[in-house]
Amino acid sequence: MPQKLLVLRNCGVIDPQDVKSYLARGGFKALRRVQSGMTPAQVVGEVRRSGLRGRGGGGFPTGLKWEQTAQSPSQMKYVICNASEGEVGAFKDRYILEKDPFTLIEGIAIAGYAVGANKAYLYLRSEYAHLAPFLIGAIAEAEKEGFLGIGGHRFGIELRLGSGGYVCGEETALMESLEGRRGEPRARPPFPPSQGLLGFPTVINNVETLMNIPWVVANGANRFCGMGTEESKGTKVFSVCGDVERPGVYELEMGSSLRELVEGLASAGDVKMVQVGGASGRIVPADKMDVALSYESVLGAGPVIVFDKSRDVVDIMRQTMEFFAEESCGKCAPCREGTQSMAETLARIVDGKGRRKDLKALEDLSAAMMLTSSCGLGQAAPYPVMDSLRYFRHEYEAHISS
Ligand SMILES: Cc1cc2nc3c(=O)[nH]c(=O)nc-3n(C[C@H](O)[C@H](O)[C@H](O)COP(=O)(O)O)c2cc1C
Ligand code: SF4
Repeated sequence: MPQKLLVLRNCGVIDPQDVKSYLARGGFKALRRVQSGMTPAQVVGEVRRSGLRGRGGGGFPTGLKWEQTAQSPSQMKYVICNASEGEVGAFKDRYILEKDPFTLIEGIAIAGYAVGANKAYLYLRSEYAHLAPFLIGAIAEAEKEGFLGIGGHRFGIELRLGSGGYVCGEETALMESLEGRRGEPRARPPFPPSQGLLGFPTVINNVETLMNIPWVVANGANRFCGMGTEESKGTKVFSVCGDVERPGVYELEMGSSLRELVEGLASAGDVKMVQVGGASGRIVPADKMDVALSYESVLGAGPVIVFDKSRDVVDIMRQTMEFFAEESCGKCAPCREGTQSMAETLARIVDGKGRRKDLKALEDLSAAMMLTSSCGLGQAAPYPVMDSLRYFRHEYEAHISS
């Protein structure tokens, strides 16, 4: 099955250390067009019409977020590029940063122009610190060539290293971290478009979301809308890993089937289940892999983890929940206590000391956490356990009766 390379079109083609090689591929033309012939409202309108939705996991309409930020009255506004990429099995943003930093810089600059921001932060996962000098160099190249802050629009991009926590990828925790505090999610509302970084209106977008922007501006919203499904336009980049022959980063048109990705492109055989969206993603058993990858069905931020038939589902869930118990910021009880309690219960079941009533307890706790946790970490952490209890209950029961 062919890939549809829109976001990744320059990856492996340009020299990521040489802005001239990006220019030779039509780089920065979209930004020039925006700066010379479009009003900020026209840019926002184009992005709204494209139907582009956030690729960081939530799928919020990008144009709407930009519009809300543009309309918030303030002298100071910010753009943040979320390159925290902490989800388990995720490496597509790293691939993009390594292979094509200039499209990202162009996307960030267009976002800044559209919402009226003069400053952007690229928040880079601390484990990617080795990329910092290279990315700072790319920003400096773009500045030297005169692509940032021209035509009366003062604009600069600054790189900041993350603090090493999974929760620091959550947008409000990320802002706390950027402001020099502990990375704990804030209560919402207010939302970032009205009160974000340092209390000013802020657009925060994932790396892949911003990578789409120059293409949308250059080719128009209509062409973008022509790809994908009703609710999910364009393409999606996936990082595939686990029990596959060809792990890697793949870009597909929205609506392509999971089976095509996993068995076709990544050459997986003997699949038991796939976790779509990382540790907090949904479980898809092998017989349901014809599902279309889209916001209407199953998508997430991009990680796709494949498990073959030799894997123990309950033990995978134990490891997943131990990860969440470790990464929970501890601010609210349902998540702090719930992840810990679920991890202990799952460990007991794996050790052969489980009881039948543990399954009901896992379900009840999952429902309570989803309902009462205050941020996406605690709300989504139970998904894989709930899904695996639905599709692989017999494996839990086998552990309990043995
Ligand atoms: C626990 C948690 C971790 C997150 N980690 C990331 C991350 O690493 N990268 C990311 O882009 N979004 C992450 N998000 C989503 C962000 O909160 C936010 O929705 C996203 O950056 C918005 O950008 P988008 O609209 O372009 O997707 C995370 C959310 C939660 C709840
Ligand atoms: S849900 Fe978890 S990570 Fe989110 S605020 Fe509560 S304790 Fe912190």
